Amino acid sequence: MTYVCMQDFQQAAERQLAIRDEKLSDIAAREHLLDAAFGPARFAKTCERLREGRAPAAGLALVAVLGGELVGTIRFWHLQAGGRAALLLGPVAVDSRFRSLGIGRKLIAEGLFRAVQRGHQGVILVGDAAYYNPLGFERASVRGLAMPGPVETERFLGLELIPGALSGAKGLVRATGAPARPIVRKSVAEVFSQAA
Ligand SMILES: CC(C)(COP(=O)(O)OP(=O)(O)OC[C@H]1O[C@@H](n2cnc3c(N)ncnc32)[C@H](O)[C@@H]1OP(=O)(O)O)[C@@H](O)C(=O)NCCC(=O)NCCS
Repeated sequence: MTYVCMQDFQQAAERQLAIRDEKLSDIAAREHLLDAAFGPARFAKTCERLREGRAPAAGLALVAVLGGELVGTIRFWHLQAGGRAALLLGPVAVDSRFRSLGIGRKLIAEGLFRAVQRGHQGVILVGDAAYYNPLGFERASVRGLAMPGPVETERFLGLELIPGALSGAKGLVRATGAPARPIVRKSVAEVFSQAA
């Protein structure tokens, strides 16, 4: 299909965009997207210390799909933030071919909506304030908190889903998510021996 202008493309993309729970079969496309968006440095980020070896929060690993193709990802993780149960948002990434179409904001809005539905109260992240301030994230709610590694202070932001959820929270942020389940790949011999 040929689009005459950007607006046509945007409207078509909005009609076809689906945001759904991540599936096991999305892993390769998700990792490819994250590699392209952040490069290998993504594994050195302080936030990664809160994600490694953990499963994302239940129902809060989402993908954006356009025309059957995975074009966006967002995940949230369980934390203790100065003694309060909270979520870490991130990483969020959108395929560079489909940026500035509102997909990032939709992923975040859908994730936050589902987080509220599941009774979560506060969300923290490390990201650009220029992007996250209009979505409600700000510095005030995380001023008393410390991440388990270096972060640029002005990029450390929080959002209270319930008013006061993070107020007065003080101390180190630490991971509390369930251990990630290893992906077991069966050998060809195992598959055939079970089929016999
Ligand atoms: C950040 C990201 C997820 C936004 O996805 P997206 O689908 O393009 O976002 P939206 O369409 O909802 O919003 C686009 C707007 O946000 C702005 N924006 C994008 N990244 C920004 C940033 N880091 N800081 C400030 N503004 C930003 C764009 O310029 C655009 O502005 P416009 O609407 O005036 O054109 C995407 O750019 C991306 O994957 N970037 C690489 C990975 C990354 O940095 N992830 C965020 C970690 S903090």
